[in-house]
Amino acid sequence: NEGSLWGGRFAGGPADALAALSKSTDFDWRLARYDIAGSRAHARVLHDAGLLDDVELTGMLAALDRLEDDVVSGAYVASEADEDVHGSLERGLIERAGPELGGKLRAGRSRNDQIATLGRMFLRDHARVIAARLVETIDALVAQAEAHPYAPMPGRTHLQHAQPVLLSHHLLAHAWSMARDVERFVDWDRRAAVSPYGSGALAGSSLGLDPNAVATELGFDSAAWNSIDGTAARDVFAEFAWVSAMVGVDLSRISEEIIFWATKEAGFVTLDDAYSTGSSIMPQKKNPDVAELARGKSGRLIGNLTGLLATLKGLPLAYNRDLQEDKEPVFDAADTLELLLPAVSGMIATLTFNTEKMAALAPQGFALATDIAEWLVRQGVPFREAHELSGEAVKLAESRGGELWDLTDEDYAAISPALTPEVRTVLSTEGSLNSRSAQGGTAPVAVAAQLSELRSRLEPL
Ligand code: ARG
Repeated sequence: NEGSLWGGRFAGGPADALAALSKSTDFDWRLARYDIAGSRAHARVLHDAGLLDDVELTGMLAALDRLEDDVVSGAYVASEADEDVHGSLERGLIERAGPELGGKLRAGRSRNDQIATLGRMFLRDHARVIAARLVETIDALVAQAEAHPYAPMPGRTHLQHAQPVLLSHHLLAHAWSMARDVERFVDWDRRAAVSPYGSGALAGSSLGLDPNAVATELGFDSAAWNSIDGTAARDVFAEFAWVSAMVGVDLSRISEEIIFWATKEAGFVTLDDAYSTGSSIMPQKKNPDVAELARGKSGRLIGNLTGLLATLKGLPLAYNRDLQEDKEPVFDAADTLELLLPAVSGMIATLTFNTEKMAALAPQGFALATDIAEWLVRQGVPFREAHELSGEAVKLAESRGGELWDLTDEDYAAISPALTPEVRTVLSTEGSLNSRSAQGGTAPVAVAAQLSELRSRLEPL
């Protein structure tokens, strides 16, 4: 069992099938630099505790530096026989520092506290990258909103025409949910900024090592307060997977809209050539593949979360080897979002809106019926009655194959004397939009206010 991290009590080495099953270097090798950073911090606390002398510390750090250079250059890679990144790097350290010195570093730490710590370091770095990419997506939405401050579109509920809204208002609705996703990553980081290093296998270390010194060196706010929790908990991983899945769902929802907007039937947007694809057989095709891949990849992001939760469910404390399965789902979540977000941002930034068509459709489908009812309320009519009267106007217009503005003053008067010709002041998209001016409404003044609020939220992120 040469080169293994254990073996003293074993008569022989593992079966080939076990070795193959056990092996994680294919996916955990990307933690190598975090592992080496952890080793440096650990060497220093061993030194502080008097377990490495000055010469040994210097030699250890120099060997770790050489190992890191070789890992970065690719001169050192995991061998076929290495089980995981930790074991492989110990082998690499021993090759460089010799068995006497290299064999000292493992004191007081376990792969259990190492892997829990390195995973957090990896995810914290990637959460920052993903949050930055998300802010770029929000910026693309904000830029489109600013480019179309007064453009109306049909606002829909149940996918049916509901009330006119501003395109900018609609785009910013997506921006708000994405801004909350950014805040979620920031908030998540407070819980992720706790270092399990020093928890050992599960019970802590008897060697007088300072876990907070390691935590500080590795960029954490503090060390774990419970070594069992430190090694066994993966809620921080699951929460990362959840926030990532939520981002996926948010990207999927706007993507679904863009796919619909780009249809011949809707004709609301034209996709830029750089963000659409053709067909191998149909020469005319221009397909919204970015949006479709975003919609599709939300499925794998949700799968990463549910798979991880299923792995965690029913696991007794403390470490169990099942936890080796924690990495691929969160690594994939990070990779997926880092790949997807720039494409989605580019697609949004380069959309061309057919504002004329959107504006023409905005009031159609009796989308101003609520405006009639609310106008009646302002004249003192109870809403229950106002709703009925406006509904009758819809019925009459529909029976004639027209819209609400096609009815004559006499038609309105016949429905109710309360429906005086002044009702026409609200029978326009502009009137409808402008009237919804309270905070959160779709009036241009309210949208301008929300834009500055959104910007001030984004500033510190
Ligand atoms: N490679 C393992 C993981 O990814 C860490 C090793 C812990 N193994 C063990 N036998 N205690 O979780």
